[in-house]
Amino acid sequence: MIHIFFSLLLAWTPGTGAQQDTLMPFMAQLDPENNVNLKWGFSDVQDTITFQLTVKTTGWVGFGLSPNGGMAGADIVIGGVGQDGNYFKDYHATGNSFPLVDEKQSYTLLSLTEADGQTTMTFWRSIQSCDQEDIHITDSPVKLIYAYGKTDGIGYHSRTRGTKEVNLLKFMPRSSPRDGNYLDFVMDNFIVPAEHTYYNCKVMKMPKLNGKHHMYRVEPVIKNLDLVHHMLLYSCPLSVVQINEQQCYTGGPWADCFKVVAVWAVGGLAFELPENAGIPIGGQDYDEFYRLEIHYNNLAQETGRRDSSGMRLYYTDQLRQHDVGIIDAGLMVSSWGYAIPPTASAFRSYGLCNTSHFSDILPDPVPDLSVISILLHTHLAGRKVRVGLFRNGTQIDFLAVDENYNFEMQGFINLATIKTIKPGDEIVVECTYNTATREGITQLGLATTDEMCLAFIIYYPAISVDHCWSQPNMHAYTAMMGKTDYQGIVEMLKTKAWDQVSIAVHEATMKKVPQIGVISNEHNNYTLYEGNILNMMATPSVSCRSDLTDLGLKS
Ligand SMILES: *[C@@H]1O[C@H](CO)[C@@H](O)[C@H](O)[C@H]1NC(C)=O
Ligand SMILES: *[C@@H]1O[C@H](CO)[C@@H](O)[C@H](O)[C@H]1NC(C)=O
Ligand SMILES: *[C@@H]1O[C@H](CO)[C@@H](O)[C@H](O)[C@H]1NC(C)=O
Repeated sequence: MIHIFFSLLLAWTPGTGAQQDTLMPFMAQLDPENNVNLKWGFSDVQDTITFQLTVKTTGWVGFGLSPNGGMAGADIVIGGVGQDGNYFKDYHATGNSFPLVDEKQSYTLLSLTEADGQTTMTFWRSIQSCDQEDIHITDSPVKLIYAYGKTDGIGYHSRTRGTKEVNLLKFMPRSSPRDGNYLDFVMDNFIVPAEHTYYNCKVMKMPKLNGKHHMYRVEPVIKNLDLVHHMLLYSCPLSVVQINEQQCYTGGPWADCFKVVAVWAVGGLAFELPENAGIPIGGQDYDEFYRLEIHYNNLAQETGRRDSSGMRLYYTDQLRQHDVGIIDAGLMVSSWGYAIPPTASAFRSYGLCNTSHFSDILPDPVPDLSVISILLHTHLAGRKVRVGLFRNGTQIDFLAVDENYNFEMQGFINLATIKTIKPGDEIVVECTYNTATREGITQLGLATTDEMCLAFIIYYPAISVDHCWSQPNMHAYTAMMGKTDYQGIVEMLKTKAWDQVSIAVHEATMKKVPQIGVISNEHNNYTLYEGNILNMMATPSVSCRSDLTDLGLKS
């Protein structure tokens, strides 16, 4: 078993009395190999935050804040000790290309030194940045990114990069569960094909646990950092009763296993639930089968590489106060006739979840649900996802907003404050897709080239609701398009010559037609109802630049 991820846990170093430690009492290791270390400290009163980045290299070092862990939208500083002296600049990235120098240099260098093969860069900035090209630091978790090179020629960083989520202003190191019980869901010496991209799927049975337990932490177990690109762990419905291993997205009963329980992407970390909550496992009626999906990136197309990476689930028999549930809300996963047109730069799709109808399938009164975390999920064409919460027909909040969605970087968004879904509230999930380079329509489905539009809502106390989806009523759509041939509508959409006008009409029509909602659980209780997509407000921006997890709206 590898232990590198233990050392990844945020380490708390109390001030040792040294000058620097009082200024920068917090410390986090940013990478699994222990090459990149960050210390920081801040002053609310002076509105300053000071960072000290130490990297095991004599080349350039880069550090930044990113909306989603990727480059796009990131606020970056790059510096180093070069032959002609020190260099240091504030940059911002607009995509996966070389970052651009900010017009306003908001970071100030305090010192830059090179010793023992390490570069140490100390710098500060104001917490509230009013520069459009910087990211505002708030008391919500933020994705820190790092990269470095072997030389001072600042270039593409290939593998020496990563990301780590840290709450800079409310730093709360969690204790390491070294002695906790865990179950491993891992590949077993899987021979990674000599292909650039390969998705391997393995359905595994959970070992029998004596009675009910709570799972509280999921940790990645990575055996080959250069091959494992991202991983997803899904739970299966009761209908899945067999283990299986095959290339993903090639059919089979495992396809029903798509309730996301854990995700890991390059540079990602463990996910842990708050101390009062756990996901029930073991005992009666709980998911016994899980599907592990690993996306392998074998860049060098090497043959004969083996991998046993996966996820480690920590559990306890000391039951916590609340059972955590996961509801997936959004657009029905395989809506008949649903089409995202090609050549669209930003096509919006919608799904409705009307919690008024939870009571149709639940024998007991529905409680208020406390949302702790959200995972947004689309496939490759997804660019933005927003989840609106409506009460009595009015939007009162966003449960989550990701304006820089990246399939390869998806992760849980922990809410800075717990948000409440009251019985009767409506949830609208909006996904924006870019199909600019596609030739045919994109349909909804399980393949990565199909699309999804889902928000996995992690909440307590658990109720017996799994899916809360909707799809446009295609009979009504056919009529609204002035057609009569309902069966032929898909063929019509497939062969249509799309232009920007017809794309806009299609988007508006799909949003306007009545929705057929479905709410179901794993006992096959379900309810069907009609509903309408409610209009979502513009994403509010806080003073200078909007922070993505706390939008300044409170429920
Ligand atoms: C849900 O399904 C279970 C098991 O099939 C059944 O006993 C129960 O009555 C159903 N509940 C409702 C509200 O239909
Ligand atoms: C919605 O409005 C009705 C009538 O004003 C009120 O009785 C009800 O409590 C409201 N629902 C919620 C969840 O606030
Ligand atoms: C949700 O369901 C309730 C009860 O049927 C209904 O009054 C309300 O209009 C529905 N909301 C939407 C957005 O369809």
